[in-house]
Amino acid sequence: MAQVSLQNVCKIYAGGIRAVNNISLGIENKEFMVLVGPSGCGKSTTLRMIAGLEEISEGNIYIGDRKVNRIPAKDRDIAMVFQNYSLYPHMSLFENMAFGLKLRKYPKNEIIERVNEAAEILGIKHLLDRKPKEISGGERQRVAVGRAIVRKPMVFLFDEPLSNLDAKKRVEMRTEINKLHIRLQTTIIYVTHDQVEAMTMGDRIAVMEKGILQQCADPISVYDHPKNKFVAGFIGSPPINFLYGKIVKKEGRLYFDEGKLKVKLVEDMYKKITPYVGKEITLGIRPEDVYDKLFVSEAPPENVVRVNCEVVEPLGSEVYIHLNTGKHTFVARVGAHNKPAVNQDMDLVFDMSKVHFFDKDTEETIV
Ligand SMILES: Nc1ncnc2c1ncn2[C@@H]1O[C@H](COP(=O)(O)OP(=O)(O)O)[C@@H](O)[C@H]1O
Ligand SMILES: [Mg+2]
Repeated sequence: MAQVSLQNVCKIYAGGIRAVNNISLGIENKEFMVLVGPSGCGKSTTLRMIAGLEEISEGNIYIGDRKVNRIPAKDRDIAMVFQNYSLYPHMSLFENMAFGLKLRKYPKNEIIERVNEAAEILGIKHLLDRKPKEISGGERQRVAVGRAIVRKPMVFLFDEPLSNLDAKKRVEMRTEINKLHIRLQTTIIYVTHDQVEAMTMGDRIAVMEKGILQQCADPISVYDHPKNKFVAGFIGSPPINFLYGKIVKKEGRLYFDEGKLKVKLVEDMYKKITPYVGKEITLGIRPEDVYDKLFVSEAPPENVVRVNCEVVEPLGSEVYIHLNTGKHTFVARVGAHNKPAVNQDMDLVFDMSKVHFFDKDTEETIV
C-alpha cells in the first residue's frame, strides 16, 4: 500500500523563511494528487521533502506505514520526474532508462525487460538507440517518465514535467500521463502551477499559496465551492470576476450594491449574508454565469444589469465579452453566436444562484 501522509510539515529555510507552513495532507493509495499554486508557493519544496531531497524542518512524512523523515531518498521507493528532464547526454535512451536499475544491481535480463516494457508503454521503443539530443522535447519527456517507470516505485512524484513543452504537446502528454496512471495503478503526486492541468489530471487537487494548504478536494468541488477568495480566483479560466460593494436591505430583500450595478440576492443566501447588511463585501461571479439578456427568456428584472461592452473576443467555440460597470471591469463567457456591439451599453443577466460572497477582511467564503 502506497499511501502518503504529511502531518504538520514545515520547511524553514535560513533566515526563518517558512517555504512550507504546517501542511497536513493524506494521499491515498493509487490516488492522483495534484499540488497546484502560483510560483513560489512551496510546491517543489513539499515534493522534495516527500522525495527525501530536502530535510523536513518540522512534522512527519509517512510513505506506506513507514515514517520516512530520516530515510534517505534512495530507500524511499519513490521515483521523481523533473521539469528539466536531466537525461545523460552521452548515453543512449536505453542506457538512460536502464541507469537507475544498473546502479541498484538488477540482473541484466530484467533490466532489458523493464526498459523494453516501459518504452513500449510510452511509444519510444524505436528510439532506444538514440542519444537525447537526437530526439524531440516531447520524446525526451517520455524518456524521463520511462526512467521513473522502470523502477516500479510505490509512488511517482512529478514536478512540473510538462512546462518545457509547447502548448499542443502539453495537452497530449497530459492525456498520456492520465492513461499511464490508469495503467500503472500507482500513487502519483504531481506538481504544477497550471490550474487546467490540475483540474484535468487530479483525482483531488491541493491548492497552495504562500506555503499554506488552502483547500484540498476533488476538482469540481474546488471549482464550485472554493474555500476562500484566493482559491476562487486561482481555479477557473477566464478567472472568476470580483466586484466590490455593499449589502443593502430594502423592503425585506437583500441586494448587492456595487455603486453602479445592483443585483438581488437569492433567498437561500439570506441567512448567511444578513450579518453583512450595511457592510462591504466581495461578490464573485464566474464568466459563464453572466448572460447576454437577449439570449435569456424571462430574466428576473432585479438580476439585469446595464453595462458597457468594451471588448469582444471571439474564440470560435465561445466569446469572451469584457465589460465595464463604471467602477469595475468583468468578463462574460457566452456562446459563439453571441456577438454584441463594442462601445455600447448592453443588458446582462447575473445567475444569482451561482454567485459567491467573500468576507472583505478575512477573504473566506461566506456562501
Ligand atoms: N534553498 C532555498 N533557500 C531559501 N529559500 C528557498 C530555497 N528553495 C526555495 N526557497 C524559497 O521557498 C519558497 C518556495 O519555493 P518552491 O517550493 O520552489 O516553490 P514552487 O515550487 O511552488 O514554485 C520560495 O519563496 C523560494 O524562494
Ligand atoms: Mg517548483
